[in-house]
Amino acid sequence: MSVLIEVEGLIAGYGKVVVLEELWLRATAGTIVSVLGPNGAGKSTLLNSLGGVLPSTGRVWFDGEDISRIPVEERLMRGIALVPEKRELFGSMTIGENLLLGGYRPRQLGDRAWRAGLDRIFELFPRLGERRSQRASTLSGGERQMLAIGRALMSRPKLLLLDEPSLGLAPLIVWDIMRAVAELAACGLTVLLVEQNARAALRISSYGYVLEMGRFVAEGNAKQLMDDERLVATYLGASADSPAQ
Ligand SMILES: Nc1ncnc2c1ncn2[C@@H]1O[C@H](COP(=O)(O)OP(=O)(O)OP(=O)(O)O)[C@@H](O)[C@H]1O
Ligand SMILES: [Mg+2]
Repeated sequence: MSVLIEVEGLIAGYGKVVVLEELWLRATAGTIVSVLGPNGAGKSTLLNSLGGVLPSTGRVWFDGEDISRIPVEERLMRGIALVPEKRELFGSMTIGENLLLGGYRPRQLGDRAWRAGLDRIFELFPRLGERRSQRASTLSGGERQMLAIGRALMSRPKLLLLDEPSLGLAPLIVWDIMRAVAELAACGLTVLLVEQNARAALRISSYGYVLEMGRFVAEGNAKQLMDDERLVATYLGASADSPAQ
């Protein structure tokens, strides 16, 4: 399978503070790649840089093209969708309105295809379909997360940048979301999944990177990482609770 995104020597930070120090990363098309690590490691900084909402230096190749200097809107048009840690939904709008109005709409999509996209999202997350007229501000944490992912999917991305979908959610809901993400990847979507919940993330990933203070301290096949007891104890232990079977 071909490489969809390749990051070479990415450096990013805030003002004079460097957070990410020369990261190298790649993801094969149609796979889930996890970036794991503790609070403050730089996981969100990485995703926001790749989404184009934060400036960075270094090279980012996407679909064979250098997109390093390309702004956020155009990254979206090319198929990179970010679900940020702060979900940024429109609270006074319904689920349906958030999906139809909140996302970026590819120019070539006619009305029918656009609405068909909505149906696909309701298939993936039936809870959203059942509540499509409910206002976003009244949703549970899990439903909010589903809506944020759904909205990103409306732009028909090739790459989904997913920032801590499990944050604050009960294990069963975490697993619902992970299962949906796995289903999307099985249909060809590539996912860069940032998580503190290492166990849940690695279960659906094919590859993982462990980020600590702005550097990758380990990487490998998901199974390899899970089986590495020392690694799990050192970096992934506190968040390694597994969803209910
Ligand atoms: N807007 C900002 N301005 C200045 N420093 C920031 C800003 N956002 C993040 N940082 C700093 O950058 C570092 C990495 O933060 P980041 O949010 O990327 O970590 P993270 O791995 O996503 O953590 P968490 O798991 O808590 O979400 C932290 O030291 C943080 O304080
Ligand atoms: Mg974060």
